[in-house]
Amino acid sequence: MSDPSVSDRRQEYKLLFEFIRNAFPNEGVIPLHEPRFSALDKQYVNEAIDSTFVSSVGAFVDRFERQIAEYTGAGYAVAAVNGTAALHLALVLCDVQPGDEVITQALTFVATGAAILYCRANPVMVDVDRDSLGMSADALRNWLENNARKEGGVAINQSTGAVIKACVPVHVFGHPCRVDQIRDICQEWGIKLVEDASESLGSFYKGHHTGTFGDMGVFSFNGNKVVTTGGGGVIVTNNERLAQRAKFLSTTAKQPHPYEFFHPELGYNYRLPNLNAALGCAQLEQLEEFIEAKRELAHAYRDFFNLAGMSVTFVEEPLECRSNYWLNAILTSSEQEKTALLEAALEESVQMRPVWRLLHELPMFEDCAHDGLTASIELSRRLINLPSSVVRRR
Ligand SMILES: Cc1ncc(COP(=O)(O)O)c(C=O)c1O
Repeated sequence: MSDPSVSDRRQEYKLLFEFIRNAFPNEGVIPLHEPRFSALDKQYVNEAIDSTFVSSVGAFVDRFERQIAEYTGAGYAVAAVNGTAALHLALVLCDVQPGDEVITQALTFVATGAAILYCRANPVMVDVDRDSLGMSADALRNWLENNARKEGGVAINQSTGAVIKACVPVHVFGHPCRVDQIRDICQEWGIKLVEDASESLGSFYKGHHTGTFGDMGVFSFNGNKVVTTGGGGVIVTNNERLAQRAKFLSTTAKQPHPYEFFHPELGYNYRLPNLNAALGCAQLEQLEEFIEAKRELAHAYRDFFNLAGMSVTFVEEPLECRSNYWLNAILTSSEQEKTALLEAALEESVQMRPVWRLLHELPMFEDCAHDGLTASIELSRRLINLPSSVVRRR
């Protein structure tokens, strides 16, 4: 039998669907997040086609990298074929070796953990903060103090004897985590910091762009992100040597030469095609406008939930941040209510979705060490994402 309090809530859900339909007046099925394109996007893509440089060499790739570096304030940006490849390459650049350990969070998209496994390294998962949904600095510190020792400038897991090489916190749904504290802990323990900023282009923490706090930061330009290149990613860093290595390794480690093919080491074909970069250049010119629209939508959602007196809580940007509000999120009062709302949304052709399955619940990560993940588990039972596309002006 269904819980009557849940069925009573259907009336509240109706108000929410009305609000959403009003916010996206031109849509039939209301998608979770769809890209927005303009004449400028078509113009730049056409220019790339006309130039015949559609693959991994071309002026748009360099321009895209310059635009990203300038916007984020990073010293260097190196474009990649997608965010997952960029994460993998960043971990390779951190010298993550088979058998090493990499600390991350379970509340993330599978790609964060997959990149660690590509290195044949072992993920360790620590809990997240309830407000930011990103890695908890306290959880990181506690796990290290209880499980690691520092030896010769590196962190060693006392029970496995493995080197803890890197740490990959995630700025979930675009909300910055407490990355300054995480950076300090990583520095203290001799652990490399790679920010998974895939979702947080346009999000700033204490005045600095996400992705620029650690050794490297990674962004994704998949079709569902704030701006898209169709598929694409980028590594940002302030370290010139790392940037040069990233470019070299992502372009098959080919030694520059007018006609010789010499590859002194194993590289990757991870470069972003010029065609995709052309789209990215145009999209970046619209980024601030998109974020303004997304923040307006987020504030409208927040006001709706405050006024509607519903039993759900809107996830607001953490303090001292400007979030891009990539995906708006709410916390339902219970797992049962989450399912009821998702089912009702399905009937109404409004796309909502639960958060990803926690990494440690996926078969490939089930043997991984973790700290109990109390907040991650509780959040995952109650989180729902709401339609969050840039709202078209009427
Ligand atoms: C947190 C997170 N990490 C990594 C990725 C991987 O990016 P991509 O899809 O561009 O490979 C994504 C996005 O898709 C993501 O949301």
